[in-house]
Amino acid sequence: MAEREKLTSRLSFILLSAGCAIGLGNVWRFPYITGRYGGAGFVLIYILFLIILGIPVMVMEFSIGRGGKKNIVGAYRALEKEGSKWHFAGPLAIFGNYMLLFYYLPITGWLLYYFVSFVSGTFSGADTAYVNEYFASLQANGALQIAFMLIALFITAGIVIFGLNKGVEKSSRIMMALLFVLMIILAIHSFTLENASEGLAFFLKPDFSNMVEYGIGETIFAAMGQSFFTLSLGIGAMSIFGSYFTEKRTLLGESGRIIVLDTSIALLSGLIIFPACASFSIEAGSGPALIFITLPNVFSKMTAGSLWGALFFLAMGFAALTTLIAVFENILSYWMDMRGFTRKKATGLNFLILAIFALPCIFGFNIWSGFHPLGEGTGIMDLEDFIVSNLLLPIGSLIMVLFCTSRYGWGWKNFISTANIGEGAKFPNKLRIYCACILPLIIIYVLIQGIVDFFI
Ligand code: ALA
Repeated sequence: MAEREKLTSRLSFILLSAGCAIGLGNVWRFPYITGRYGGAGFVLIYILFLIILGIPVMVMEFSIGRGGKKNIVGAYRALEKEGSKWHFAGPLAIFGNYMLLFYYLPITGWLLYYFVSFVSGTFSGADTAYVNEYFASLQANGALQIAFMLIALFITAGIVIFGLNKGVEKSSRIMMALLFVLMIILAIHSFTLENASEGLAFFLKPDFSNMVEYGIGETIFAAMGQSFFTLSLGIGAMSIFGSYFTEKRTLLGESGRIIVLDTSIALLSGLIIFPACASFSIEAGSGPALIFITLPNVFSKMTAGSLWGALFFLAMGFAALTTLIAVFENILSYWMDMRGFTRKKATGLNFLILAIFALPCIFGFNIWSGFHPLGEGTGIMDLEDFIVSNLLLPIGSLIMVLFCTSRYGWGWKNFISTANIGEGAKFPNKLRIYCACILPLIIIYVLIQGIVDFFI
């Protein structure tokens, strides 16, 4: 068997894992839920959960990869005690990666389509009715969505087929660097707009009245859910990079760095969006409307709006593509590690699988738009997002935490000694009780609340 690939540097590990984390969750979901729950107050709660929930689960996930030296399915098998059944969590996690891509690919396709539209000047001077109709007609047009979804898939597959170092690592380093540069330029531009300070105040000044309106419980739940989604925790998308990483550095310090990068992009996104909306007196919408209706409306009124719109959608595209590449890589590693496929063969097969199974999400907006799986107004994309965000991420994270803390699983000693190999900050042994008893309860709360919210 060919030798397992390794990442060439520590920077690659951090950027690749951050690339997996940084995606639509940061540039789209974070700004609108922050707006909804009252700005800075919500951001503070969110950061608290990144620290108490995100960091320990991320360290555990990386440790499972590092200890097992394989993708998540192989890692559970390698680390579990003989006769135990933890490995059942592996296929569930891989399924989560697929399900995420089933709707992430079509949305990335939309972003690329909007990028092309801005480059070609479609929105220059467009009025609100035109912008609204533009998105509605994209959603109604299945063939157009399929074409752009396939472009997104083609770019992703075309990169990962070159291997971990030449494909995944190299492209993520370039895209992440470009993403940061673009986001900083866009944020500086937003600050220079008239009335930008109003938008900044909305985003950054705590307004607890919104929190009271929605309920503190719902606000906390939203912050917890966002911290799982933004870090792609629980489905092995992160553990795979733990398996490729050298043992020169401890995992706590690296997780902290990844989370700081992830949060910086989320905050930058808010700094771009809210001042721009305030400047043109357009209320920031939520859901798909924020990116695909509100912002094009803002850009269409701005001086050089086609340029700013194109740069914005280019940045969004990079954010989404780095996640697609990382998650695709995780899926490939499953086929290579467990099924003995070559990288080429695994890429071809998964190209086909994803091209087919991304279709239901697209059809949910047109030929199957009468199907409302989670109640009035919901579509297939909502169902897929519900399965990933509300079920698979918390369930997968819960199993990882129990696996790392229970003596029936991999156990605390094995976990902490693996996490702490190398130089850097050590995961504190005194957090054992917290990780074994309180952390699972917090995740169970997220899981139950996520289900209850939808059905009651
Ligand atoms: N972590 C990925 C995102 O934030 C899924 O979009």
